[in-house]
Amino acid sequence: MSGQAETEAGVAVAVAVAPYRGGMNDHAEPDPARLRGARWAVTGAAGRIGVHLRSALHELGVELVSTDVVEVPPAAHAGTGPTTPERREVVDVADLEALAGLFAGCDGVVHLGGLSDEADFHDLAAVNVVGTYHVLEAARRAGVGRVVFASSNRLTGSYDTDTTVDVGMPPRPDGFYGVSKVAGEALCRLYSDKFGLSTISVRIGSWGEAPEDSRHLHTWLSRPDGVRAFVAAMTTDVHVAVFYAVSANSEGWWDLAAGEAVGFRPQDDASAVADGPLPEPAGTVSPEAEGSAEGSAGMSAGRSAGQAGPQGGPFASSAFSLDRMTR
Ligand SMILES: NC(=O)c1ccc[n+]([C@@H]2O[C@H](COP(=O)([O-])OP(=O)(O)OC[C@H]3O[C@@H](n4cnc5c(N)ncnc54)[C@H](O)[C@@H]3O)[C@@H](O)[C@H]2O)c1
Repeated sequence: MSGQAETEAGVAVAVAVAPYRGGMNDHAEPDPARLRGARWAVTGAAGRIGVHLRSALHELGVELVSTDVVEVPPAAHAGTGPTTPERREVVDVADLEALAGLFAGCDGVVHLGGLSDEADFHDLAAVNVVGTYHVLEAARRAGVGRVVFASSNRLTGSYDTDTTVDVGMPPRPDGFYGVSKVAGEALCRLYSDKFGLSTISVRIGSWGEAPEDSRHLHTWLSRPDGVRAFVAAMTTDVHVAVFYAVSANSEGWWDLAAGEAVGFRPQDDASAVADGPLPEPAGTVSPEAEGSAEGSAGMSAGRSAGQAGPQGGPFASSAFSLDRMTR
């Protein structure tokens, strides 16, 4: 759809954004059946989430355009759902032209591709920030209706564990990776406000088959709940949103209201599935070591023993970022 938008100066500019063909049923529940026959591109398709999500989307009858900087394996198909075509292409998110060509004719893009943990800031800026700009700009040029952006809970990982965080609170990233997701969310908002592209930012918790450490009691996102989160993001009638994609953990840290507003209803609880006590996350500094010179790099700034620590846990330590600086 071509349309008109007004700049702040009141100048009419042409916009090319496809009408978004997602949609809820009358009960504001996501309706996966609405995705049948829709065409979605997935970046980062060969990654942990990409492999699982593509399989689920394939079962729902979504036609996939799957891309990654590495070779993409075909979407696994359990044989119960329809067989839909999948195009697989090796493309770097550095290549704006290639992305725009790939997105032509797509209803939406799920943007998972990039560095998925702390790294040197220059790399995060190039792959996650510039790469997300390329994905959004390619979507705009191709007339795609919606981009679903894989954001992260690490964007607010410096809030203390005794704070319930909601999406209206200012970002407090626990590292440079979190900063790259702040920039990604800001770019999404810009493309919605300025160019009319629908963007849904999904702040993913800790995606996995089962909770593996004590932090996951608060952050775990089961795979079925993860698929529910993405299906809600792909089908909601809401034009622009940010929400936490986390299971219904009884010890959760994040307000789920923004997710409910887009129809995300998680069903799993880490405490209910944890098989006995879970270990501390790797890299956790013991209270004894925290007082020592060796342990001080693992401590969050300004914290003394006995106080609530950052939600990011070991990710929030200065050492976690310093160890990954290469320039
Ligand atoms: N797994 C989680 O618990 C979690 C939590 C929060 C956010 N996320 C976000 O979700 C997304 C997917 O996470 P994941 O766990 O599948 O990560 P992953 O690292 O398994 O997958 C990321 C994929 O992106 C690809 N990629 C890297 N650089 C690229 C480039 N220059 N161009 C194109 N593709 C590139 C990689 O090859 C990889 O296949 C990421 O954006 C991550 O930051 C994941």
